[in-house]
Amino acid sequence: MTQQTKQIPVSSIILDEDIYPRKGIDHRRVGIFAENIRDGFTFDPIEVAPCPDKPGLFRLLDGAHRWSAYKSTGIEEVKAIIKDLEGNDPLLYAATKAIGPKQLTEDESRDTARRAYSRDSSLSSADIGKAIGRSRQTVDSYLTDLRASNRMGLDIKIFRLNRLGIPQDRIAKRLGLDQKTIHNHLGEMPALAFLLNGDLSRGFSVSQVAEKHGWTEPMVWSLALEGKNDHDRFKELGWGFCTWDKWEFNDCDNRFGDDWPGRIPAQLIAHILRCFSKPDDLILDPMAGGGVTPDTCLAMGRRCWAFDLMDRPDTRPEIEPFTWDISSDQGLLWPVSAKGKPDLIIFDPPYFDKKAADYDKKSISGLSRKAYLEFLEAFFVLLKQNVKKTTRMAFINADWRDFQNTPAIEEKYKGGILIDDYLDILKRTGWYHTHIIQAPMSSQRFTAGVVSAMQKKNILGVISRYVIVLGQQGLE
Ligand SMILES: C[S@@+](CC[C@H](N)C(=O)[O-])C[C@H]1O[C@@H](n2cnc3c(N)ncnc32)[C@H](O)[C@@H]1O
Repeated sequence: MTQQTKQIPVSSIILDEDIYPRKGIDHRRVGIFAENIRDGFTFDPIEVAPCPDKPGLFRLLDGAHRWSAYKSTGIEEVKAIIKDLEGNDPLLYAATKAIGPKQLTEDESRDTARRAYSRDSSLSSADIGKAIGRSRQTVDSYLTDLRASNRMGLDIKIFRLNRLGIPQDRIAKRLGLDQKTIHNHLGEMPALAFLLNGDLSRGFSVSQVAEKHGWTEPMVWSLALEGKNDHDRFKELGWGFCTWDKWEFNDCDNRFGDDWPGRIPAQLIAHILRCFSKPDDLILDPMAGGGVTPDTCLAMGRRCWAFDLMDRPDTRPEIEPFTWDISSDQGLLWPVSAKGKPDLIIFDPPYFDKKAADYDKKSISGLSRKAYLEFLEAFFVLLKQNVKKTTRMAFINADWRDFQNTPAIEEKYKGGILIDDYLDILKRTGWYHTHIIQAPMSSQRFTAGVVSAMQKKNILGVISRYVIVLGQQGLE
């Protein structure tokens, strides 16, 4: 750790509760310090570290009472040691400074240990104990329940990834563990499932069981519906089955997937799975976003490999981070060296241009029309090279017409992408459609004000959306 000492404005220093190990400021102590300052007494410099997200500000590591006293006496500048903690936990560092004349109380040291462990579960009891001035055994006793629930979190992650058919070596890599640990955890899964099934058979609802055990609802559904056929799964999930080629759902089912730009209803994914895949088939979602596809696969008893450029290891470990990048030196790459090949691809890419602000800058939504179409062409070729002859694709898309403020009669063919543009590329790359299913978006996303403005000008908005289902056999 390095440091420099200099005069800094008292107003540039803040007390960040996140890294403050005490329960509060002792005002009697501040009063005594203020009196000492007025009497001309000089204190040791306080210690601070630069605020990571607020340039120009410093957060206190040591000297909260002296700092409060400086403020109350109107002193504008103080001598401070500015520390570079070089990755060390600031809360634990601040706690080491509290060992001395005024020790942390029992409550404060317990709370500090728990906060430090919650931020970094790889910290040992000995390390934490050294920082807060307590023995390893005492710290162990502070952390017992947190360690148990952390372990439970890992069990659930491993169970989920395994249930989705992700091979053990990829589970190990994703969770930063060795394969032996994964293997050991998987050995405990039947006992865990038995526990949950017990609660389900006692009449608790899926959401009650999920809450009690800290599981996600789709994971509990995957157990609750085990052995059932698709028809019965739909019934239990409360979804009607649309027999015709128009699948219309006004709302997303909040039990499946996260709030995400461009989120699609789980009922739509469930219809695709029911009509175009079989139980235990492997589904590939190359741009999985909020995770509706893996969640619905759990409920429908399908395996699923999902990828996205957005990485959320804690909440969505099953979505493996991967960016499909046409501009890389090697061209478009396949993310896994898989023996397993998908039976069905569910591909729901972002629009180009229009929604660019909703996604990361590496997203294909930032591409120009030309580059976007080139990406799709290369992507469909890549898919064909890496799947089975029998693999189908469900491509979810909508016409992209730039109708903003333009009456329908004045709209020109000026660089939108319409369904026939996609079909041209698909045919060129060896994908032939068997079905075009209408799956309209809800018109409720337009506000009453917007609708009335559109009505006045005869503007025709877009709510049509399609699921194009394709195979690889042409007419030949
Ligand atoms: C329309 S969203 C998918 C929404 C998802 N079906 C759902 O219901 O939550 C498209 C996703 O594609 C991802 N994406 C865009 N470009 C990508 C790329 N080049 N590689 C990987 N993911 C990409 C975005 O991060 C975004 O999550």
